[in-house]
Amino acid sequence: MGTDVNNKEYRFQHKHLLEMGQLTAEDILYILSLARSFKEVSSRPIKKVPILRGKTIINFFFEPSTRTRLSFEVAAKRMSADTFNISASTSSSQKGETLIDTARNLEAMNPDIIILRHPSSGSPLLLTQHVNAAIINAGDGTHEHPSQGLLDLMTVMEHKGRIEGLTIAIIGDIAHSRVAHSDIVGFTCLGARVRVAGPATFMPSHIESLGAKVCATAAEAVAGVDVVMALRIQQERQHDPLIPSLREYARFYGVSRKLLELARKDVLVMHPGPINRGVEMNPDVADGTGSVILDQVANGVAIRMALLYLILGGDKGGEAS
Ligand code: CP
Repeated sequence: MGTDVNNKEYRFQHKHLLEMGQLTAEDILYILSLARSFKEVSSRPIKKVPILRGKTIINFFFEPSTRTRLSFEVAAKRMSADTFNISASTSSSQKGETLIDTARNLEAMNPDIIILRHPSSGSPLLLTQHVNAAIINAGDGTHEHPSQGLLDLMTVMEHKGRIEGLTIAIIGDIAHSRVAHSDIVGFTCLGARVRVAGPATFMPSHIESLGAKVCATAAEAVAGVDVVMALRIQQERQHDPLIPSLREYARFYGVSRKLLELARKDVLVMHPGPINRGVEMNPDVADGTGSVILDQVANGVAIRMALLYLILGGDKGGEAS
């Protein structure tokens, strides 16, 4: 299999990145390997390589973001691409322009990649049908967030040396989490087992069809696992309250030191961010032993460098120069 950057036969065949399910295990392992080689660029005194010079990348974000938007921009700039940001609040969508019209106008400026975050599931796919630029899904509604899934895989691989055979527990608002969807598909694709737990109102009926095992309690999900990931409650996607109170949620599903005692001693603690401390995760867990939350953020830059490079056709070996 073309699982690392030394395999000169491997070719990345995807114009767009819309969801984790479009990637084969070979694709994922190649992306992780390439990201590992790009990660070194971020620790150089001069954090820049010229490989995407002359390329134009637009960050088109209709929802708030700290990590994803900034890390795509940092990744692009570290590879010398030109980056531009447009958000819903500063765009003419405020004046009634449709997503497709806005995208066509962006296209008229001839970007190479449009990176889209949007509250509607499927909106990145819709754009691929109306513009010629490559589209990267940076989170669409409750559907997927594939670059987050890849950086989560990279972080676990970095700390555990493998994905196959591990057990991952994902706790919280599974129904509204695009990260959970991408992670379940990605981790199971590479041979891990994924367990999920959360209030019944946060548990979508289709989740087992993705390969996850639904557990009745957080304790059952966490027992003996290698990785515990907590998710934020996505209140912005809920029209009616789906849980009685945050206090009760924290009691039953908040990740605490006591809950982690049920996991393996070397358990990794993850969270895609932003964290609501004291709700889905206690501060001593977020900042304590086993937490790799900021490693996830650091790896986000490396994964996004690899994705931009591959989508722009640079799959000829991938060594940073
Ligand atoms: N993990 C993640 O998507 O974070 P942001 O919303 O800050 O981009």
